[in-house]
Amino acid sequence: MDILKIKGGTPLQGQIKAAGAKNAMTKLLVASLLSDKACKFYNVPNILDVEITVNLCREIGSEITWDKEAKTIEIITRELKTSYVPQKYSGSNRIPILMIGALLGRTDEDIIVPTIGGDLIGSRPVDLHIHALQKLGARIEYREMKKEGAYLAQAHQGLKGAVISLDYPSVGATENTILAAVRAKGTTLIKNSAIEPEIIDLILFLQKLGANIMVDTDRTISVQHADEFQEVEHTVLTDRNEVASYAMAAISTKGRVFIEGAEHLNMIAFLNKLREIGGGFHVKQNGIEFFYAGPLKGGLHLETDVHPGFMTDWQQPFVVLLTQTQGASVIHETVYENRFGYTNMLKEMGADIELFTQCLGGKECRFASSNYHHSLVIKGPTPLKAHSFSIPDLRAGFAYVMAALLASETSTISNTEFLDRGYENLVEKLTSLGADIRRESPPAKQSLPTNKAALQHLLKKAVIDNAPSAL
Ligand code: EPU
Repeated sequence: MDILKIKGGTPLQGQIKAAGAKNAMTKLLVASLLSDKACKFYNVPNILDVEITVNLCREIGSEITWDKEAKTIEIITRELKTSYVPQKYSGSNRIPILMIGALLGRTDEDIIVPTIGGDLIGSRPVDLHIHALQKLGARIEYREMKKEGAYLAQAHQGLKGAVISLDYPSVGATENTILAAVRAKGTTLIKNSAIEPEIIDLILFLQKLGANIMVDTDRTISVQHADEFQEVEHTVLTDRNEVASYAMAAISTKGRVFIEGAEHLNMIAFLNKLREIGGGFHVKQNGIEFFYAGPLKGGLHLETDVHPGFMTDWQQPFVVLLTQTQGASVIHETVYENRFGYTNMLKEMGADIELFTQCLGGKECRFASSNYHHSLVIKGPTPLKAHSFSIPDLRAGFAYVMAALLASETSTISNTEFLDRGYENLVEKLTSLGADIRRESPPAKQSLPTNKAALQHLLKKAVIDNAPSAL
């Protein structure tokens, strides 16, 4: 696996273009499976999670043309080749479970999807997905298949609209329910749903496809049955995680970066917190410029939350940013119970961070009576020393990259596949901003031949090559 070498200490300066959103694009591909019509997507990010999803759709019969230069994907699924998602996708990312919602209305056959993966940041169950789909009339069982887990789903009698109340506004459960509800007879109401911008993007796509979906002011989404679909062209919204990541890297290194395509509307909670600590930004006509505007101040209380709150995915790089602020700040992670694991490494680099199991600051969250370290107090400013890291998850990965950009010696980062899942051309973008970063691939191992004659030949050659020289 590749490693990254980063020598920090240089302010990031320049301009980059924001990529399309990972957490929208992957779902849009799955949503296209609802119909047999052609869909064309623009602004498609060239990242590993999209590649995994493209392969997954091809497995079940989609014809796909991905033009990486033009950033477009054309997909059409005239008919399903199979409704069995192979076990090799088990643990690959969070997408396979959404195939249930998309395929239930498309086939009478059993749908089998492997258990899902994604980042190791909490237990990440799928109970809310399963309960909602069951309420729509699906039969879903968990089965052990060849020692691995899989979900078997079917709706032989068809799906019927229902009133579903989610115990928590889960992004994935909302998406899965919307997908299934489009094909369910009648109307479905999803109460306490997630309303993240990526979900609104999914709804926009589905409306173009032929669905009637309403988002009410009280987090209720209503979906009406649809079975006549149209061809769709859709431009994927910009990745607000990528935008915030580069914004924090620019400000913490005392630099100035313009991010073309950054969308103000989806960054409100982030920009408020940035302003509270003295980070500079100018919202321009076609993007946002982020810059260091003088010493950064702590004293911040930040709580992660569902949209329109401060995203949990911004939390990790924000903690690195807080290592550069004057004074103490408090962070309360309310979305995932276990998203502070990466802070151990920051402490080894010199950060002053203490973890707590209590809900610090404002409100009590659903982890209040559990024993999870889900609050922290961070004191700054602290210089960071270079380190060797192994990335545990995608956003911690970017936090490590940021920490390495702040340390003046060279840091080494392994497990870079996590970054490839969600950040398009990371090394190229950072290099264009002046960072000293390079990617190194380990030398390819020569594989040994498997047949006996070839092995004997190699052995003979090795003996001759290593024989003492006649001279
Ligand atoms: N949850 C349940 N039961 C469920 C589903 C979720 O208890 O059935 C809990 C989870 O354990 C978690 C919370 O609800 O504590 C939120 O989970 P959610 O379902 O909202 O998250 P997700 O759909 O699995 C997506 C993003 C994450 C992002 C979250 C929250 C994708 C592929 N992933 O995950 O993105 O953090 O929403 O906004 O869309 C990332 O991009 O780095 C990333 C982790």
